[in-house]
Amino acid sequence: MVADPRLAGTDQDKRRRHADVTPIRDGDVGRTGDMDAPRKLYVKSFGCQMNVYDSHRMADMLAKEGYVETSEAADADLVILNTCHIREKAAEKVYSELGRLRKSQQETGQKTVVAVAGCVAQAEGGEIMKRAPVVDLVVGPQSYHRLPELLAKVRGGERAIDTEFPLEDKFDHLPAPSLAATRKRGPAAFLTVQEGCDKFCTFCVVPYTRGAEVSRPVARILDEARRLADQGVRELTLIGQNVNAFHGAAPDGRTWSLPDLLYGLAEISGIGRLRYTTSHPRDMDDALIAAHRDLPQLMPYLHLPVQSGSDRVLHAMNRKHGRDLFFDIVDRMRAARPDMALSSDFIVGFPGETEAEFEETMDLIVRTGFASAFSFKYSPRPGTPAADHAAQVPESVKTERLHRLQAALEASKRAFDLSCVGRTFEVLLEKPGRQDGQLIGRSPYLQSVVVNDPPAGIGEFLTVTITAAGPNSLAGEPVSPRPKASARPLAALEA
Ligand code: 5AD
Ligand code: SF4
Repeated sequence: MVADPRLAGTDQDKRRRHADVTPIRDGDVGRTGDMDAPRKLYVKSFGCQMNVYDSHRMADMLAKEGYVETSEAADADLVILNTCHIREKAAEKVYSELGRLRKSQQETGQKTVVAVAGCVAQAEGGEIMKRAPVVDLVVGPQSYHRLPELLAKVRGGERAIDTEFPLEDKFDHLPAPSLAATRKRGPAAFLTVQEGCDKFCTFCVVPYTRGAEVSRPVARILDEARRLADQGVRELTLIGQNVNAFHGAAPDGRTWSLPDLLYGLAEISGIGRLRYTTSHPRDMDDALIAAHRDLPQLMPYLHLPVQSGSDRVLHAMNRKHGRDLFFDIVDRMRAARPDMALSSDFIVGFPGETEAEFEETMDLIVRTGFASAFSFKYSPRPGTPAADHAAQVPESVKTERLHRLQAALEASKRAFDLSCVGRTFEVLLEKPGRQDGQLIGRSPYLQSVVVNDPPAGIGEFLTVTITAAGPNSLAGEPVSPRPKASARPLAALEA
């Protein structure tokens, strides 16, 4: 499936045009039966942070309809699986989960309403309905605001499917979270600012499942951020499939870019930290790099997927950049913010990748140094250009390259973690630790930092010195700890 990556026109036009290249199936599949109004909701998210955010928004909307969340599928009247289609393995998980639900319904004799949402719903909605009779409802990522209507259909005995790219914006119809919901989710929140992608990398399903790149209006984003800050959120991660392509209509009549938005958000009292993900190298401009220099709230940590270190493979992937652009961005970022650290995504075994080309990726890892990274074997996705490529790399070669790549990434991460020992960081305390009196916070680089007896609580910032680096977390000691009970007695201090 090939489409022009540089579609012109309004966001709504683009949404419509992408809808043309996306398999759209609509209409209801007849079914008889009678169901009581469900009250308990279980939502399971697969895949990326945007699905986590969307799951929260669905739960917020259904809370208004009288649903309360439960953490057990077996307790639920309504189960929503919010699915991921990025790799074959991710998509397969849905069918195994549906198998488990069917089995448990057969065993207990209880009928739960089962909804499939997310990117598998968008890409394979009709197929899911055929393959999995346990499913009552299929809803694509752009139609979540229609869930109450779709559930009403299910209660009326029908099976419902909506995988349209509707012209109305779901965000206009999805209610904000309650104070209780925000508190439960913790002081670090996601905020979707942009959805979809126009880049059309040849391996990727996102432009088909999430549609064209659409930015949310600035005023809505600022309102949502202010509300979250009032509810106790201290860290915001702006999310979008191509977040640094953000171009939102602003109340001042201009179109704001991502750096404009970051400066605007930095003025909101209470928001101590800002992050954004996921970025494309082609959209890392000077203004965004300058924002890292100028905004103390913007964390010195960038997730910048590079996928490969080989120019030939990058070209075949339609990434629209070579390895030199990546090195150049990293250099400019580090010049703007010397404490900048990087994370990235890598794909091994893209069709036609030779051993020498794979070695170029290994070289890029060593030259750059990553604080963390995600890496994947190439997975052919139906409908994407690379899936039809004749020179597919054998599975055994992909596995072997992935092991080597992950060993290099792990060494890079370990070196970074060890370099943090002795440094002083501000951490945002997020949750209790395993032992009494412990809290776990996040460093600027998203590392978990365990602090014993911190003189601050969840939702507060604390300055700590890193004292040790373990495989999964760092240990931190408050910079100005409270005097211990065993310290000099008060009388001695007064003398
Ligand atoms: N196969 C393997 N990895 C993929 N990704 C996206 N599509 C595929 C695919 N077909 C990876 C990319 C992307 C991340 C979110 O998932 O590395 O950055
Ligand atoms: Fe997929 Fe990212 Fe490429 Fe867009 S930029 S097509 S989301 S990998």
